[in-house]
Amino acid sequence: NKDVYVLGIETSCDETAAAVVKNGREIVSNVVASQIDSHKRFGGVVPEVASRHHVEQITLVIEEAMNRANLSFADLDAIAVTQGPGLVGALLIGVNAAKALAFAHQIPLIGVHHIAGHIYANRLVTEMKFPLLSLVVSGGHTELVYMKEHGKFEVIGETRDDAAGEAYDKVARALHLPYPGGPHIDRLAHEGSVTIDLPRAWLEEDSYDFSFSGLKSAVMNTVHNAAQRGEQIDAKDMAASFQASVVDVLVAKTVKAAQEYQVRQVLLAGGVAANRGLRAELERKMAEIEGVDLVIPPLSLCTDNAAMIAAAGTILFEQGKRADMSLNADPSLEL
Ligand code: KG4
Ligand code: ZN
Repeated sequence: NKDVYVLGIETSCDETAAAVVKNGREIVSNVVASQIDSHKRFGGVVPEVASRHHVEQITLVIEEAMNRANLSFADLDAIAVTQGPGLVGALLIGVNAAKALAFAHQIPLIGVHHIAGHIYANRLVTEMKFPLLSLVVSGGHTELVYMKEHGKFEVIGETRDDAAGEAYDKVARALHLPYPGGPHIDRLAHEGSVTIDLPRAWLEEDSYDFSFSGLKSAVMNTVHNAAQRGEQIDAKDMAASFQASVVDVLVAKTVKAAQEYQVRQVLLAGGVAANRGLRAELERKMAEIEGVDLVIPPLSLCTDNAAMIAAAGTILFEQGKRADMSLNADPSLEL
């Protein structure tokens, strides 16, 4: 039984990342070049700026991942790359780098869905037990994904408008906090109290879908109306109240789905999984239901990285899935 080494490449948004993972579970190297500082002054990710950075960084980042792993390309069993969803110009940089390397070194090529990557970040910290449920919350996604076995994903709920992270970033902007705003709201929320009445979008009784745009608008209107009266909203209390609304709905729907689908594990995934309020509330509520393990990866594996892409790619590799030189970036790829 030979060890399997997979190089992962991720460029779907604003991190240029490469990593080597052994047997789908063990991180050998994990390199992430963040562009956050370049996007900060624009208050969000600018696609053209992101593509330019990926072009500049991709070769260096891949070299660094290979050097830290102390491997040569001949040692690799496969190259896994994020195929979508994401910014098309950004995705293309990673896909083309992966294709060039796979072609030059005659290594199998594998296209990975970004969300499958976020979910498989969990396999780098624990064994996945099926059936399982994953709550994927990031800047671009809010999804409840049910899995019966490796590589099979069933989206049982998703956002109908803004993603959770997007709502965090927009609310942060209204409160004049820097980009990305999620961590700032999280920090302020812990210093404030839930004193402002904000809506919670439960949607239909049996729906696992989410909606955050109404909540976001309610925050913006409250801030705006206060300003018109010459008053200022307490940012800490607003952060605490907003976070409570988001966390209440995310946790309630996740716990309900975990019970209905009788899963053995609940996995948290995506950048918003870094949220302390969400982690704490999910831990509290999950402790009340028996026989279900809650898994929350470390912060560095929750935000965009390539180790998660390599981990998801390894499963596809073992299942015999291969891409060829026609592999293309797909900004709206379905899970
Ligand atoms: O997964 P990720 O790195 O990129 C995407 O694929 O979108 O997630 C980034 C998102 C941003 O919206 C950011 O504000 C949010 O995750 N985020 C947080 C926290 N840390 C990052 N949101 C709430 N609380 C946090 N502590
Ligand atoms: Zn992501």
